[in-house]
Amino acid sequence: GILLTQALRPGGRMGPFLPLLASLLLLVPEASAYGFSNCIQTFWNPGSFLCIQRFLKDISSAVADLPANATSVNVSHNSIHRLPAASFHHLPQLQQLQLVYNQLEEIEDGAFENLGALDTLNLSNNCLANLSKGAFHGLHNLTHLFLRNNRLSTMHPHTLQPLGSLLILDLYSSHLANFADVAHSLQGLKKLWLLNLCCNSLSSLNSSSQLPPSLSRLYLCNNSLRAVDSGGPQLLSNIRNLDLSYNNISNVTSFAKAGLQNLSYLLLKGNPLNVIHLLNVSGLQPRSLDYSGLHVGNEGVNEVCKRLGKNPLKHLLLQSNNIRDLRNVSFSHCPPIQTLDLSWNKLRSLGCVGELLGKGQRRHLENLVVEHNLLNSLRYCKTHTLEVLKNISFRYNRILSVSYGAFSYAPNLRILHLNINNIAYLQKQALKGLSSLIELRLDNNLLTDLYESSFADLVSLHTLNLRNNHISVLFPRVFRNLSQLCTLDLGGNNIHQLSNRSFQGLRSLSKLYLDGNHIKKISSDIFHPVQKSLKVLDLKGNRLQYITKKQHKVPPFKNLHKLYDLKLQAQQPYGMKIIRPRFFQGLVALRYLYLSENKLLSISPDAFDDLGQLEYLSLADSSNGMQDLPPGIFKNLSRLRTLNLENVGLHSLTLEVFGNLSSLTSLFLAKNQLQTVNVSVATALGQLRYLDLRKCPLGCTCENLWFQNWLVNSRVQVVYLYNYSCDSRHQLGYVYSFDTRICFLDVGLYLFSVTSPMLLLFMLLPLVYHRAYWKLKYHFYILRSWVNDRWRRQDGEHFKYDAFVSYNSADERWVLEQLVPSLESSQGTFRLCLHHRDFELGKSIVDNIVDSIYNSRKTICVISRSYLQSEWCSLEIQLASYRLFEELKDVLVMVFLEAIPDRELSAYHRMRKVMLKKTYISWPLEPEAQRLFWTKLRKALKGTTEQEELVGKF
Ligand SMILES: *[C@@H]1O[C@H](CO)[C@@H](O)[C@H](O)[C@H]1NC(C)=O
Ligand SMILES: *[C@@H]1O[C@H](CO)[C@@H](O)[C@H](O)[C@H]1NC(C)=O
Ligand SMILES: *[C@@H]1O[C@H](CO)[C@@H](O)[C@H](O)[C@H]1NC(C)=O
Ligand SMILES: *[C@@H]1O[C@H](CO)[C@@H](O)[C@H](O)[C@H]1NC(C)=O
Ligand SMILES: *[C@@H]1O[C@H](CO)[C@@H](O)[C@H](O)[C@H]1NC(C)=O
Repeated sequence: GILLTQALRPGGRMGPFLPLLASLLLLVPEASAYGFSNCIQTFWNPGSFLCIQRFLKDISSAVADLPANATSVNVSHNSIHRLPAASFHHLPQLQQLQLVYNQLEEIEDGAFENLGALDTLNLSNNCLANLSKGAFHGLHNLTHLFLRNNRLSTMHPHTLQPLGSLLILDLYSSHLANFADVAHSLQGLKKLWLLNLCCNSLSSLNSSSQLPPSLSRLYLCNNSLRAVDSGGPQLLSNIRNLDLSYNNISNVTSFAKAGLQNLSYLLLKGNPLNVIHLLNVSGLQPRSLDYSGLHVGNEGVNEVCKRLGKNPLKHLLLQSNNIRDLRNVSFSHCPPIQTLDLSWNKLRSLGCVGELLGKGQRRHLENLVVEHNLLNSLRYCKTHTLEVLKNISFRYNRILSVSYGAFSYAPNLRILHLNINNIAYLQKQALKGLSSLIELRLDNNLLTDLYESSFADLVSLHTLNLRNNHISVLFPRVFRNLSQLCTLDLGGNNIHQLSNRSFQGLRSLSKLYLDGNHIKKISSDIFHPVQKSLKVLDLKGNRLQYITKKQHKVPPFKNLHKLYDLKLQAQQPYGMKIIRPRFFQGLVALRYLYLSENKLLSISPDAFDDLGQLEYLSLADSSNGMQDLPPGIFKNLSRLRTLNLENVGLHSLTLEVFGNLSSLTSLFLAKNQLQTVNVSVATALGQLRYLDLRKCPLGCTCENLWFQNWLVNSRVQVVYLYNYSCDSRHQLGYVYSFDTRICFLDVGLYLFSVTSPMLLLFMLLPLVYHRAYWKLKYHFYILRSWVNDRWRRQDGEHFKYDAFVSYNSADERWVLEQLVPSLESSQGTFRLCLHHRDFELGKSIVDNIVDSIYNSRKTICVISRSYLQSEWCSLEIQLASYRLFEELKDVLVMVFLEAIPDRELSAYHRMRKVMLKKTYISWPLEPEAQRLFWTKLRKALKGTTEQEELVGKF
């Protein structure tokens, strides 16, 4: 990595230590990372980037660091005011660009230059008041342009010219007042297919320019139009789908002159028009009209139907016509209708639908839609079955009760939507006979009880939705005949208990939703009836809680061998707390497991052992003291691809926990207590592509140095990598860029201080040993004795002995028989220190020698050949001579016991040096001369230790 190259640079300060440094760096993994300042690359689509809600003020801070092969960028929900020229120049492959919910006021000419591949541009919800001439320059492949909710009041004639491929132009909710400007600006858009101008301020369609012939859908709702012909008979002649709702058009004759013959759909609701008059005068095709909101009225239906002819009609749309009662409405003149839509009226009751329709219609009606009315009950109707009626939707009504056989008029019903009502009472046999029903929605009602026979006839049912009711008890065998049921949604009810017969008969059930109930206990026998088919089980938000680590006798999911999705998150009110040993045993096919928000205190280390197929696991938001995960917990999850551990209180990542996740691609670790990310863990996660460490207190320490090295090659995206600031009060900066020189120095210095003395030592040791062993040893003792000496001598000179006698044991006889008697006893004046007599027991010899020398005024060296050969004596003479040379204290008295020629002495150069510096006394063999010897010796011993004229020349 960087470290290595830096170190290898010629002249790098660590030159001599490269081998060591290099070997250290081998520990740094090859894994690498990258990230973007304000964008997240979606990991399922690497070309797609989300840069939303980053409080960005300029576009470059969002997109500057995106790679050139980005194909989709979403910069929505920021505070960008303007787009400068060439803002996206570096993204030539961009296909989708979202800039929704910003504060754009200005788009400079050429802002989108080089975006030749762009097909979708969303500039909705901004503050654009005008668009300059060159704003869209270069977008020749753009097909979708969204400019909803801006403040455009005019359209420059050239602004849209570059958009030759445009199909859809959305100008919904701006301040456009001049249709002519808009039409003029569309010249040359040869492919334009849809134009949305709803919610503007257009008051007329007056225009000298024509609309592109390709334009077939024109939405002009919520403007202030009064007439439709002011643009001439050609203007709208190619339009097939026209929305003129909520304008102020009252002049029916204007339709005649507007050339609307090709229309296939016209919505006119919210205009003060008389529909019969319109049909009489306008020349419009009656079948092209949507009759919603045209105040058709009860009699009007009859009139309208007469004009619709006899051929079967696909849709009769009568929404928002203020119809209160169908008893007076006659559909008998209508053609056969496939879909009848009566939504947004004021119907309280439908009566018997069959009675309203003519015979032909009864044989044709397939879809009946009566949503957003005031229906309050559904009654039994026996007469007139509608054989082909397949879909009924009565959503958004006030239905309280459904009576016996309420749908017996539609024996072949396949889809029934009764959701979003007030149904509290579903008669036991309300759904009698609906043996073809495939989908039944009863969600968002007030049901409390389901009876054993409620669903008895629904043998074909695939989907049963009972979500958000007040069901508290599931009576045994209530679903017993639903052998085809695949999806059962019981979420958001009041269920406390389930028994082994609750789901009896559901042989095909694959998705079971029980979330948001009050279930406290689950056991394997509850799921026994569905164990062969169940694939998805949702138990989110129930009341499961475990407070002991005891293992279940039979693990609750033991036989659900097909289950691949299990949701157990957010158990109320305090979470699951503990995941027991082997809790998930048997879930051999499980791929998705959700355990977030469970305030986990502990997870048994073997909990996930059976989940060899698991691909997704979330334990997010479980920080209730669990902190670090038990080692080995993920050991069998070799197929896990996504692991969400956000906010679980992790302090560290260890190989013991994360080491086996060899397929992991996405790891979510935001909001944990991580200060460092372990390099070895990052290395072990060989497939990792996405790592989220937001809001972790990462430190700018050398431990996180590898983090910077990770940036070198692109492999792992670290979310918002460039925004992780140093978590320290003293250090400013970012984790990705903190000054790593300190680490290099540290490493270098560390290496230097450790290795260089060692290297030197190893190099010098043999030499030293060979040449200067004693010198070193001596210097060591010198140093010590010097220190001791200083300390000892502070209070003046008080010697314990007059002389320390250094001699070799071979000369012991002479010392004991001659020296000691003549110096100690004869005149009794000298105290001698002799090693055999005065050395302290238990002290090392060397210490004794040093002490003796320093505790004595003089040192007498009794020199003979054996003395010279002895190591100890050599040390003694050297120590003593140190005082002579270094301390300038003359402490040495040399006595030669035998004549030693210079030739022999030369081997002992220290000795020679001493002899050159001072005189010495020789022991005479003649007895007369011996008296002089003792006199000389006494005199020498009495002499002061300071430099003085040395005793008698020989
Ligand atoms: C984009 O380019 C990078 C190299 O710059 C490459 O690694 C990556 O796979 C490319 N992505 C796509 C989606 O082509
Ligand atoms: C862009 O981001 C916004 C904000 O999250 C989101 O609502 C929108 O769906 C995204 N658009 C696309 C095309 O993904
Ligand atoms: C524009 O679109 C066409 C057809 O989809 C494509 O062949 C061409 O490469 C695109 N131009 C650019 C610059 O991407
Ligand atoms: C563009 O943004 C608007 C406003 O948020 C949104 O309703 C619309 O779906 C977006 N269009 C596309 C294609 O994303
Ligand atoms: C209705 O429109 C026709 C044709 O455009 C026009 O001649 C007539 O004056 C209009 N009537 C009213 C009341 O504006």
